[in-house]
Formats: sequence, structure tokens, C-alpha cells
Amino acid sequence: MRILAVSGSLRPESTVTTLMHAALGLLPPGSEATVHTALTALPYFDPGVDPDDAPASVRAWRGPVAAADAVLIASPEYAHGMPGVLKNALEWLVGSGELVGKPVALLTASPHPAGGDRARAWLTETLTVMSAALVPEASLGVGMVRSRLGPDGALTDPATAAALRGAWAAVERAVRTAPADR
Ligand SMILES: Cc1cc2nc3c(=O)[nH]c(=O)nc-3n(C[C@H](O)[C@H](O)[C@H](O)COP(=O)(O)O)c2cc1C
Repeated sequence: MRILAVSGSLRPESTVTTLMHAALGLLPPGSEATVHTALTALPYFDPGVDPDDAPASVRAWRGPVAAADAVLIASPEYAHGMPGVLKNALEWLVGSGELVGKPVALLTASPHPAGGDRARAWLTETLTVMSAALVPEASLGVGMVRSRLGPDGALTDPATAAALRGAWAAVERAVRTAPADR
């Protein structure tokens, strides 16, 4: 299973990005993960850009999404929503359709107990209208995230680790049953 992972946090010490890497460390054997780290290279979405003449940064985002079997989106919550940089990146995929039928896992995290639930609700709505194949068992919110990570960034909370393993098992099932012609 080839996973493309992306984090909506730009902070170098980001807890969300750290958690995303910990999640990737729990992928089932034989899986491959690629992390897209260039969301800030994307221009603001412009529907007037000719699809055949998209900037290199847009092609460098669309290509790996298209090539992945499934996508993991990790996100903090800002002002009860997803970060603008993530919304912008998703807008670049609306017309070109790389996420149509693609299994998607969602991981939000916050220092607050709710775990970024409102950002995940917004991501769910946006990805649903984009016809992504959201995997319900792989939609996780991790509250009080700092208490679940060690100083080295390792995941120290067994319950979160178990939830992430369960999420990957569900993603694997979704990849197996996703239509081949998506
Ligand atoms: C401008 C701003 C707005 C925020 N809004 C929310 C919010 O609405 N809900 C929430 O749970 N946390 C909110 N937070 C806290 C973030 O979830 C917190 O900073 C989190 O650690 C960000 O993840 P990071 O460690 O990956 O940067 C906000 C933080 C900032 C800087």
C-alpha cells in the first residue's frame, strides 16, 4: 500500500506533523509512505489556470496524490477550521479529480481535549463533496496531543497507537476494495 501523507501544520516543531510521522511508523508491513512537504510552494488556487499549463508546484502535488493508493491528511485546527494552506491544496485537486474515489484517512490533533474535531468535520465535508473515499474508521482526533508524545517525538500513548493501527487496517481494506478504474 502506497500512502501519501501531508500535514497542514507548517510549524517546524509541529505536534501534528510529529504525530503524522508516528502514524506512518505504524503502517502495516510492506507499505510505503511518502510525505509531501511543499504545500507552501503552491500558489493560491486560481480556477482560471489552464489544466494543461499548471505550475510545477501544482503538478508536484497532483502527481503523488494520483499515484498513491491512499492519502493521509493530518491537520491542526485553527479558528475552528482547517488551515488555509490545506484548503488551498485541496482546491487545486477539485477540478483535476485526483482524490475522486481515493481512500483518505484523516488525523487531527490539538492540545485541547476535542482533538481538532471541528477541523476534521470541515475536512470531511470538503472531501465528501470532492468525492474522496473517506475511510470512517480512519478518521481520528487526538486530544491533549502533547501528553501523548515523548520528547523524541515517539508516540507514548498505547490507546492512540491502537487506534492508529486499527485505522490503517481499515485503510488497507478500503484500498483492496477501491474500484480499479478510479
Ligand atoms: C491562530 C490559532 C488558532 C487556533 N485555533 C484553534 C482551534 O480553533 N481549536 C483548537 O483546538 N486549537 C486551536 N489552536 C491551537 C492549535 O491546535 C495548537 O497550536 C496546535 O498545537 C497546533 O498544532 P502544531 O503543534 O502541529 O502546530 C489554534 C492555534 C493558533 C495559533
